[in-house]
Amino acid sequence: MTLPETSRVRLGDLSMCRILNGMWQVSGGHGQIDPARAVAAMFSYHDAGFTTWDLADHYGPAEDFIGTFRREFAARRGAERLGDIQAFTKWVPHLGAMPRPIVEAAIDVSRRRMGVERLDLLQFHWWDYHDRRYLDALKHLADLREAGKIRHLALTNFDTERLGVIADTGIRIVSNQVQYSLVDRRPAAGMAAFCEAHGVALLTYGTLLGGLLSEAWLGRREPGHADLVTMSQQKYKQMIDTWGGWTLFQELLAALKRIADKHGTSIANIGTRAILDRPAVAGVVIGARLGLSEHLADTARVFDLALDGEDRAALDPILARARDLMAVIGDCGDEYR
Ligand SMILES: NC(=O)c1ccc[n+]([C@@H]2O[C@H](COP(=O)([O-])OP(=O)(O)OC[C@H]3O[C@@H](n4cnc5c(N)ncnc54)[C@H](OP(=O)(O)O)[C@@H]3O)[C@@H](O)[C@H]2O)c1
Repeated sequence: MTLPETSRVRLGDLSMCRILNGMWQVSGGHGQIDPARAVAAMFSYHDAGFTTWDLADHYGPAEDFIGTFRREFAARRGAERLGDIQAFTKWVPHLGAMPRPIVEAAIDVSRRRMGVERLDLLQFHWWDYHDRRYLDALKHLADLREAGKIRHLALTNFDTERLGVIADTGIRIVSNQVQYSLVDRRPAAGMAAFCEAHGVALLTYGTLLGGLLSEAWLGRREPGHADLVTMSQQKYKQMIDTWGGWTLFQELLAALKRIADKHGTSIANIGTRAILDRPAVAGVVIGARLGLSEHLADTARVFDLALDGEDRAALDPILARARDLMAVIGDCGDEYR
């Protein structure tokens, strides 16, 4: 399977796949991951054209899996082809002082675990905006980029206001990773326009609501906690509850199913395509339970899919009945603060 040209987009000087393989799912709470099977599965993703990985320092063994995958890849296919792989990690520090040695030590740990001289993309998260030391950390991260340890500097879960604060410092940021789905449409409120104006791309997660946005949940009674078998499902069930509840969600799934049937594709692909088409969105991160489940053939079809005005019009009346999550939760990432 090879993906069409339209599956790729540029992020800075990198070419990335517009569907990224999300590695939170290897960190526990998503079924027992076997390391050898997981790394073998990474070859399948790569060979199918899904060459871009999203991970974090705190996603269990994810950075080590990248290290192992790269070593095996170099041994089998030659080190000169390692540039075909893109691995985007995150740094999620505890609150505290952010002097250069602390920042640099964290980056060095990720470089060592992943087996790279230079991190392709480092996405920085911060827990509390009242503590403005995130600006110290970003200054040092920008210096480490100049020193060659980071290729591109990025953010995750930053709100629009702080994107503005950071832009004012002159620190160059290529992307912000935020939750964005047909259910959680907060980025459309202000963030996307800001990003377009300032050349910041959005990478999105939660787009498939942990898999709840799929045929598997169409027509099913409301799940209780015991029915939700992954942490991801639990997280997004709460989001659905805040948004409008299970009954409205079933209406959304039914409408998506009609659209999916019309296009001969899946509910997941309609949900993914709807977000890929939104302004400022460069890529959608889809969680991968490596070695346990995969949806590669289905996901590949998202690149041949074009939604039309009739499709969007069919969803609008349902989405209009949901709560305004900007009002209920706040801007992107406020749920973590
Ligand atoms: N920056 C942040 O704060 C943050 C937060 C959360 C997540 N993330 C990133 O985003 C990634 C995505 O995680 P997520 O929790 O948001 O999950 P998600 O991508 O919304 O859902 C992933 C699940 O969707 C199901 N799925 C995937 N493709 C499908 C298809 N074509 N048809 C039907 N079902 C399909 C799979 O379920 P099954 O495995 O059960 O088949 C998969 O495990 C994470 O791995 C991480 O990299 C970032």
